Amino acid sequence: MTGTPALELRSVRRVYGFGSAATTALDDVHLTVPSGRFVSLIGPSGCGKSTLLRLVAGLEQPDHGGVLVHGVSPAEACAAKMIGLVPQSPALLPWLSVLRNVTLPQKINRGAGKRRERIADFAERQAAVPDMKELLVKAGLGDALHKLPAQLSGGMRQRAAIVRAFGLQPDVLVMDEPFSALDEFTRESLQDQLLDLWEELRTTVLFVTHSVSEAVRLSDTVVVMAPNPGRIVESIDVDLPRPRGERLFGERRFHEYEDLVRERLRRAWHSEAA
Ligand SMILES: Nc1ncnc2c1ncn2[C@@H]1O[C@H](COP(=O)(O)OP(=O)(O)OP(=O)(O)O)[C@@H](O)[C@H]1O
Ligand SMILES: [Mg+2]
Repeated sequence: MTGTPALELRSVRRVYGFGSAATTALDDVHLTVPSGRFVSLIGPSGCGKSTLLRLVAGLEQPDHGGVLVHGVSPAEACAAKMIGLVPQSPALLPWLSVLRNVTLPQKINRGAGKRRERIADFAERQAAVPDMKELLVKAGLGDALHKLPAQLSGGMRQRAAIVRAFGLQPDVLVMDEPFSALDEFTRESLQDQLLDLWEELRTTVLFVTHSVSEAVRLSDTVVVMAPNPGRIVESIDVDLPRPRGERLFGERRFHEYEDLVRERLRRAWHSEAA
């Protein structure tokens, strides 16, 4: 199975509603994401970013075209727990401690492993089953292991949700604006932790954001989308070295990428008005 892309969208179209009230949320979308890449989607509100994530996560079906996750349908990939989802606001179980919240899905989903082995070759990553306590400590939650979600700040809850998603070792992790409700510094520190986890576990990530600098900092590829109909207008490979720590913000090439993405976004807005 080596060489099969983690994600493949071909001629994807998704239309909501009928007749004159129809909205084409996605039209003729082609996207191939090789395994292990970090890809961000950015674009004006309503250009279909969340719709694209829902199609990948198997929550909806395209009206035309196809979606494959490691060569199988999203429904099959979901059944084998190959897909992890971090929603905009973290859904932790309020009656369980942080530690139990992040370890529970691992326990529940043990049975899915077998199904997964049949779909792809996981030998390499199975050697590195993450220690959840260690991941929580790395994410700065060492003092919060035994606290309840209600005792945490929003940023801490979001970190716990990210650790939990990585802990399931999904092959593809889809994240819909996971940091949008956080202040800038918390956001940057969570980006650090996300990159650390990703570099260690090498999951394929599909990440939605409205922040240009966040997209450039995190991604191997930034996919720019435009609305009416929702579509991909540009795919920009970010050729900056990793790790991408704070020093990146002082580098000229980082800002050149930001300018490039911003310019393409401006065109995407313009294309809506046209
Ligand atoms: N369930 C639905 N029923 C009808 N229309 C929908 C539905 N979901 C999305 N849409 C429409 O599809 C288009 C794309 O929506 P989507 O939520 O994917 O956009 P988005 O890029 O995620 O926007 P935002 O940045 O605001 O989150 C929008 O015009 C939206 O109104
Ligand atoms: Mg959205």
